[in-house]
Amino acid sequence: QKVVAVVPAAGVGKRMQANCPKQYLEINGKSILHHTVTRLLSHPNISHVVLALGHEDQYFAESELATHPDIVRVDGGKERVHSVLNALHAIDVDEYPWVLVHDAARPCVSHQDIDALIECCFTLEQGGLLAAPVRDTMKRGYQQQGDTCVKHTVEREQLWHALTPQMYKTNELKQAIEQALANDLTITDESSAIELAQLPSHLVLGSSENIKITHPDDLALAEFYLNRQSENLSK
Ligand code: CTP
Ligand code: MG
Repeated sequence: QKVVAVVPAAGVGKRMQANCPKQYLEINGKSILHHTVTRLLSHPNISHVVLALGHEDQYFAESELATHPDIVRVDGGKERVHSVLNALHAIDVDEYPWVLVHDAARPCVSHQDIDALIECCFTLEQGGLLAAPVRDTMKRGYQQQGDTCVKHTVEREQLWHALTPQMYKTNELKQAIEQALANDLTITDESSAIELAQLPSHLVLGSSENIKITHPDDLALAEFYLNRQSENLSK
């Protein structure tokens, strides 16, 4: 059974402080977006990619991806959640009951991790997301006279970094997001909408290599992971 991949790529990459949106920065001669989308499209369970792009995007049209037959483009929205919702509206729910949402800024996602997520969701017939256990001791802080102090240590055992892809039934995700937006609730990932709808969302252990390129330092790290992954593939 094939699934559709939604890729929100309409952000401006403010924290990256580059002179173009971060998804168009290059690693080994290809844009981050190119790495991400080709990795998704080469997965045997992914039928096509619905890509949400910024209104003022002048980079995509000039890229190799512009003529790719398995990419459907839609307009992005004000926040990530609006970009994802626009993309969901472009999916035929009867043909594609399941959708996988993946950040354009995560080019290092592995096929093994996508396999694990799809396997979990198809087996349980419930949604889920890739996640990595938190490594550091976690503290809750509070403000005191312009300073930040420790309130207490947060139990690390059950804390996870939410990664992408996140996989849900197309219909359920669309309804959950619409409901959350109608109630003015903050949605930072697909799981948060699903949680608000009180639907199950499974945490599937994924690789910590699947980083989101956010700050300038992340670029070198992503390059390192991508090179190491392609070396391992060619061994
Ligand atoms: N995104 C989107 N539409 C938006 C905002 C973000 O499609 N209105 C996408 C980004 O392109 C990115 C993903 O959502 O692939 C994750 O968002 P983030 O890492 O925050 O990217 P940016 O919003 O571009 O970066 P920043 O927050 O630093 O500006
Ligand atoms: Mg952002």
